[in-house]
Amino acid sequence: MEYSAAISRPLIFDCDPGQDDAISLIMALSPGSGLDIRAITVVAGNTSLAKCQRNARMIADMCGRTDVPIHAGCDAPLKFPLATAEEVHGVEGLDGLEIYEPDLPLQSEAAVDAIIRLCRTVDNIVLVPTGPLTNIATALTRAPDIAARISEIVIMGGARAEAGNITPSAEFNIFVDPHAAKIVFDAPVKKTVFGLDVTHKALIRDAHVDRIKALDTDMGRRLTAMLRSDYADYDRAKFGTAGTPIHDACTTAYLLQSDIFSFKSVNVQIETESALTRGHTSVDYWQMTDRPRDCDWAVDVDADQFFELMIDRIAAY
Ligand code: BDR
Ligand code: CA
Repeated sequence: MEYSAAISRPLIFDCDPGQDDAISLIMALSPGSGLDIRAITVVAGNTSLAKCQRNARMIADMCGRTDVPIHAGCDAPLKFPLATAEEVHGVEGLDGLEIYEPDLPLQSEAAVDAIIRLCRTVDNIVLVPTGPLTNIATALTRAPDIAARISEIVIMGGARAEAGNITPSAEFNIFVDPHAAKIVFDAPVKKTVFGLDVTHKALIRDAHVDRIKALDTDMGRRLTAMLRSDYADYDRAKFGTAGTPIHDACTTAYLLQSDIFSFKSVNVQIETESALTRGHTSVDYWQMTDRPRDCDWAVDVDADQFFELMIDRIAAY
């Protein structure tokens, strides 16, 4: 498949794999995706930094992409202790995949240093965070000049209509490090945001997984096992749905085919203080303030096209 709306700008993926981060990366790294990935930077989130960076190297290795440098970043949020999500993703963070230690090395350069260096030296760079925003916020704080160099930040995080998935009023990535999220959402950079409002509209169902199995490829078999593991059941049980959100894959789907999503231009503020609503994304959907509308907030997705795209990218292996 050719992706007419594909982004040609250089990319940094910042992630905490996680099965949905894994699918996002597998789509982005796939043969023929055409995406220009300059680095994968890793942050603690779904599980510890040690496991997340091992998982990122394992995924790149599974994809045969030993050319993309992988950097480990922050091992804890800016102010709060690390909260993880092993109950969703499993003790290794990738329930359902056979875990191994890949040969693919970790770069000696730390993730934050790599982000600052690439932002300063590569024009029109796009950051794609799909975990807590600690690495990106730390880079913006240490090197405020990079804000003017970043073309766009494509974020999986937050919720408006769907409220929350880790507390009644917060989505996991923003909840884990709300202080970092505040720095990123306040930064003078264009943001494109995929929160629960849209990720809950693209639920992977058994029929999709059957198609992935029917590919009869090594990648298809591995992902079938992952998508039939306890991970897939967690959200179905919690939300009473017939399918599972693959939240982070929305970012890569947007990079490949932006026209399957629709957006509303909004301002987003982050709650950092309240114990009750920590990590809440206050989305000015009805323009009640004159704050800058610097976020394209995803409101809808063509779910059929989303899964055609996902299965097409998995079939490319
Ligand atoms: C987000 O939280 C993590 O558990 C997932 O990887 C995703 O990035 C969804 O709330
Ligand atoms: Ca994630």
